[in-house]
Amino acid sequence: MAVSSFNPLDPSATAAAPGSPSPDSPPAPRQRTCPDGARERVSALIKRLGGVAYGADYNPEQWPREVWREDVALMREAGVNLVSVGIFSWARLEPSPGVFDFEWLDELLDLLHENGISVDLATPTVVPPAWFYRANPQARAVLADGTPVSHGSRGIPCPSSPEYREATARITHALGERYSAHPAVAMWHVHNEYGAPITESFSDYAQADFRSWLQARYGTLEALNTAWGTTFWGQIYGDWEEIIPPLVTGTEPNPALQLDWKRFSSDAQLRCFIHERDILREYSPNLPITTNFMAHNCDTSDLWRWGREVDVSTNDHYLLPEDPSRHIELAMAADLTRSLGDGGPWILLEHSTSGVNWRPRNVAKTPGEMARNSLSHFGRGADGIMFFQWRASCFGAEKFHSAMVPHAGRDSRVFREVCALGSALSGAADAAGSRVRNRVAILWDYESLWAQHLPWRPTVDLGFREQIRAWYERLWRDHVGVDFAHPEFDLSGYDLVLAPSSYLLTDAAAANLRAYVEGGGKLVVGPFCGIVDGNDTVRPGGLNAALADVCGVSVEEFCPLPEGADAGISWTAGVGAGAAARAPIWCDDLRVTTGEVLAEFMDGPVPGGAAVVRNSFGAGTAWHVGCVLAPADLAPLMADVYAEAGIVLPDYPEGVEVLPRLGQDGSEWAVLINHTPKEAEVTPAGWPDPVRLAAGASGIFRRPERA
Ligand code: GAL
Repeated sequence: MAVSSFNPLDPSATAAAPGSPSPDSPPAPRQRTCPDGARERVSALIKRLGGVAYGADYNPEQWPREVWREDVALMREAGVNLVSVGIFSWARLEPSPGVFDFEWLDELLDLLHENGISVDLATPTVVPPAWFYRANPQARAVLADGTPVSHGSRGIPCPSSPEYREATARITHALGERYSAHPAVAMWHVHNEYGAPITESFSDYAQADFRSWLQARYGTLEALNTAWGTTFWGQIYGDWEEIIPPLVTGTEPNPALQLDWKRFSSDAQLRCFIHERDILREYSPNLPITTNFMAHNCDTSDLWRWGREVDVSTNDHYLLPEDPSRHIELAMAADLTRSLGDGGPWILLEHSTSGVNWRPRNVAKTPGEMARNSLSHFGRGADGIMFFQWRASCFGAEKFHSAMVPHAGRDSRVFREVCALGSALSGAADAAGSRVRNRVAILWDYESLWAQHLPWRPTVDLGFREQIRAWYERLWRDHVGVDFAHPEFDLSGYDLVLAPSSYLLTDAAAANLRAYVEGGGKLVVGPFCGIVDGNDTVRPGGLNAALADVCGVSVEEFCPLPEGADAGISWTAGVGAGAAARAPIWCDDLRVTTGEVLAEFMDGPVPGGAAVVRNSFGAGTAWHVGCVLAPADLAPLMADVYAEAGIVLPDYPEGVEVLPRLGQDGSEWAVLINHTPKEAEVTPAGWPDPVRLAAGASGIFRRPERA
């Protein structure tokens, strides 16, 4: 039996407890946590920066020292107060094993400090030097087909490699020791975008780690065999050493194994973060330590688990330039990032001033768009607005990526907009540090996402993000602020909880949602929700057994539609009665038990069948939506839901965002963003007078003093 030294990061925290919990004693909702002292460290950072962090990734090693001097002058002009340094500098800092060259970094940090610019100092562990891979080829990540990834780009170490662990410890200790007391250093930036580009490593090291992780999670092979349903296709394991990850095989590997592999792969990366974080903490007890998340598009890390290990939640957000409602996707990413950090201040560690370089078509941002993007993050609680990158590179793979200082230099539209944004943010210093909380939560669970997207499901057309995005967009258009929450969190503070895409509900989550509704909560459940438990196992008693009685409806059969087809639905009761819509992708064949039918299918696979059902359960109400509705077609449903939840929509113009922020000193602020091509006038709730905004304009406004 193999026993490795893998510290499994408490995998049981994500496990569906084998067997069912007693219905009489539902587990208490999970509490959100953060490292001890994190809040104080982040408040101290905001104080030290004098408000909102503004800056970029800075790669001075690409430039001669004369340019550094020009850089700091331009940073001052732009209002930059924080730069992320050293992210890709390992080969410069440790040119050969154990031999360090810090002279250039010493000079740079001194220069930045003399100019009042603080540093978010990185550990460069995303890109070990070439000498490391030459000496340790076995430390590279291995793909599912057994191919080791070559070095020569970035982000390819295997997180389970002991050689990588040892080398990262050496450079992290060296940086911590040398720079933790440097007056420029205000924060630590560990690694860069864990999991990008290689998320899963199938190396021998990783395989052994996976087996240890499984042993910690299940304890016995019997429990593992039961959880994974290994009697299917004769996959029963008699020894831990028989277990392998989902390598390329004949057909679909066991889905429960695949789900655990995703959990493990996220944990393996997280263990690397914790390793470096704990080293840095020895040297820097008072500085925030974080890493940059990709909350908007990277679905390979369970960011709820990561959120409780970082001092401050972060995001790297890159706009979908060809999406006409890209600002709504951005808003969703920002709300998710804030929620991962429990509503506290968070930092946008990267976005772009204009186009990127890695899409097929790298569309430039339009005038004013960068400010609208930035203020939408700020209005949603970001206390840092940072970019990739400070100065555009002349060489390398990212030479066509935009920057705060573009190739065109200081005399350019982008740099002028960068300066204007810096000045707007510094004028809003008093608004920094606030926590943002909303009355509505949308459930978001990475494990459910992973499970829902495993192959061999009812249809490939029902996407986790797409479904949540449609519901989010309805709320965005209705000017309703949204938090995201894990289904096991305490939801009692929310007037309304939406579950557009909760395919997997652990027994604890199902019990939590039931208790929420029973206690008076309002819950709206989308199609293909509550279908499996934490082991991707369908519960006995019907497809939606977890919430069937809560929703007053039982799902008899899934009826996914052929590509391009849709089914008509008509609203027959409730506030939306009389409306009609076409619904693509999905129809549930429902058996209504205690619920009231609000909408019916007019045609498609279940003509006359219930499409939307409302049910009273305990002191609360639940809705089951058995079809896929576009944002506009969700309006009749949401009108009913808002009325029941006591949510009154503000009378703001369409396409104009009004985002309230409360300063720590009690000052009231509103971020106003006009996404339309017309001038708009808006009066934020409780404000005495309207504010006028030109087409495409945005700004941060302080509420006028009361007379
Ligand atoms: C990010 C990455 C940066 C840079 C940027 C380009 O994902 O962290 O280092 O590559 O993309 O858009």
